Amino acid sequence: MPSKSKITQSGEAPKQAKPFLKWVGGKRQLIDELLKGMPEKISSYHEPFLGGGALFFELAGQKRFKKAYLSDLNPELINAYVVVQTKVEELIKSLKKHVHSKEYYYRLRSADPKNLDEVARASRLIYLNKTCYNGLYRVNSKGQFNVPFGSYKNPKICDEENLRLCAEALKGVSIRLQSFDAILRSAKPKDFIYFDPPYHPVSSTANFSAYEKSGFGETEQRKLKDVFAELAHKKCLVMLSNSYSDFILELFKHYRMKKQLQKVNATRAINSKSSARGAVREIIVRNY
Ligand SMILES: C[S@@+](CC[C@H](N)C(=O)[O-])C[C@H]1O[C@@H](n2cnc3c(N)ncnc32)[C@H](O)[C@@H]1O
Repeated sequence: MPSKSKITQSGEAPKQAKPFLKWVGGKRQLIDELLKGMPEKISSYHEPFLGGGALFFELAGQKRFKKAYLSDLNPELINAYVVVQTKVEELIKSLKKHVHSKEYYYRLRSADPKNLDEVARASRLIYLNKTCYNGLYRVNSKGQFNVPFGSYKNPKICDEENLRLCAEALKGVSIRLQSFDAILRSAKPKDFIYFDPPYHPVSSTANFSAYEKSGFGETEQRKLKDVFAELAHKKCLVMLSNSYSDFILELFKHYRMKKQLQKVNATRAINSKSSARGAVREIIVRNY
């Protein structure tokens, strides 16, 4: 991964923050391609489908933007970012108290986050994320987290060094719980926006129905294309990644597209049918 961080006097590159959560659709493998297609200097950076925030942490390490605006519609996720930003030492203390066992996992999983304070809520999310099956985030119709216990031998539940680096990277960053279309109110001409939405299913065998249930079906993808077009009209620089599917190709056919072949990692393999695993093709769309 190209890194523009300076070498210190000791000869070592300073450590860069990396995502503190594993998130389905995490962009770590696609980052080089995304970076190649980006302007060198960015004044305001917006990431409205934040998830694990892989591109944000990479850009923060490179000091590529002056101001960042991060948002997502998942309240647990946004709470965790705010706690890392503002209460990282309390969070580290809380994370150190967790125990890695099946019994403890299910007990904490059944706790209602609404009854916990913000630090305990963030700590619960990070614990579940590091110990659950494949680092998935999935809730049932009542909004309860329902991913089973994972089979990790010795998961790193509390990576204090990285959490502190993340807190540093998040200093002065705007973090909001909101839907992606709220960006139309805050983006200004020349701002850079990166959209990494829940991907459109590649084929009918791809069981991405969890996304459909969560409300990100074709209607939302079309709405996203309208928001993309409106931002382009405002003279913002907009980049989007999505699946290489007929529906998405048709939707964005008037823009610049780059096709990409990406190997699927375990976290992306939310599809239980092995035939749909292996490699997915993605596209990167830009208006500039
Ligand atoms: C593919 S993930 C993003 C991955 C992320 N960029 C990364 O590098 O890990 C998609 C994210 O979109 C969020 N999301 C779903 N519907 C949304 C909406 N209507 N507005 C904003 N965020 C939404 C989900 O909570 C999820 O975190």
